[in-house]
Amino acid sequence: MRPHAKTHKSPWVAARQREAGAIGICAAKVSEAEALVHGGVDDVLITTELDPTKFDALLDLAEIARVSVVLDDADRTTELGRRTAARGATLQALVDVDVGQCRAGVESSEAAAGLALHIERTDGLTFAGVQGYEGHLQHVVGAHDRRRRAMDAYDFLADVCASINRSGLEVAGVATAGTGTYRSAIEHGLATEVQPGSYTVMDAHYAGVEGVDFDLALSVLCGVVSRKASGALVVDAGWKAVTTESGPPVVTDGTARYEVAGDEHGTIVGGDPSAARFNLTPSHCDTTINLHESYVLVRGERVVGRLPVCGRGRIA
Ligand SMILES: Cc1ncc(COP(=O)(O)O)c(C=O)c1O
Repeated sequence: MRPHAKTHKSPWVAARQREAGAIGICAAKVSEAEALVHGGVDDVLITTELDPTKFDALLDLAEIARVSVVLDDADRTTELGRRTAARGATLQALVDVDVGQCRAGVESSEAAAGLALHIERTDGLTFAGVQGYEGHLQHVVGAHDRRRRAMDAYDFLADVCASINRSGLEVAGVATAGTGTYRSAIEHGLATEVQPGSYTVMDAHYAGVEGVDFDLALSVLCGVVSRKASGALVVDAGWKAVTTESGPPVVTDGTARYEVAGDEHGTIVGGDPSAARFNLTPSHCDTTINLHESYVLVRGERVVGRLPVCGRGRIA
């Protein structure tokens, strides 16, 4: 278990995950990894390919924590190796494999084997394995369909590993999976680490995915700022408070509906007309958390603390 901190962006939560047995933490970007490492996290895999303008910051970070990276390009591998070796350092690098998401990553077994060899032969870098994140499958609603397609993705990843083995290299690590697929990855048996992120707090989109049964721990509390003659209630949470690319947030208790009413406002339709506040469950946890400076920690009805979102805005 190497949970992805792109969801919670909090070194404190990462430390709890490490205490609970996580072997390390994932970060999406160098700046996000900085926020985690500066908060005490000692082992981070950066799961997104890096633009070379970030290499120096990456190498600074690798001086104070165990940092590994993913690569999908030979020229960038050469450049990263050159700069790493110039510091007398060594970085662990994984070949990123596109297992069907059509985002980053090499697209064939042959390309993966070629890049793995190139990494291993590049001073400053060590080939540490492969990453194949099946992001396109995380929200496939039907559990059976999701499992079947995830197994196909891992079979492809197994072919990739076999091809790398044939080129004479061992594949020490296989990183994959998210909240929707980690069970399938474990069942398949190829992965050496799974990297779910959203499970930490969950969201309304994942709550509709069959078989994903973590508790919803995140909500955005908004206040009623105006009452319309129609009965609609205007609240002080719009696009700046809750993201909507995965659909509108869900009013946490009851049957009321939230509609966006601009940057600063939303409208609650069908809510208790005397209510002063509503909790909204975001449709997408990662992007909503990134809008906020801190979490208010609540146990039952009691506020028990405030926790900074240290990685807020760390998107580069
Ligand atoms: C490479 C990678 N791994 C793991 C995750 C975590 O996925 P989830 O939040 O769906 O658990 C993400 C999320 O986008 C990701 O990009």
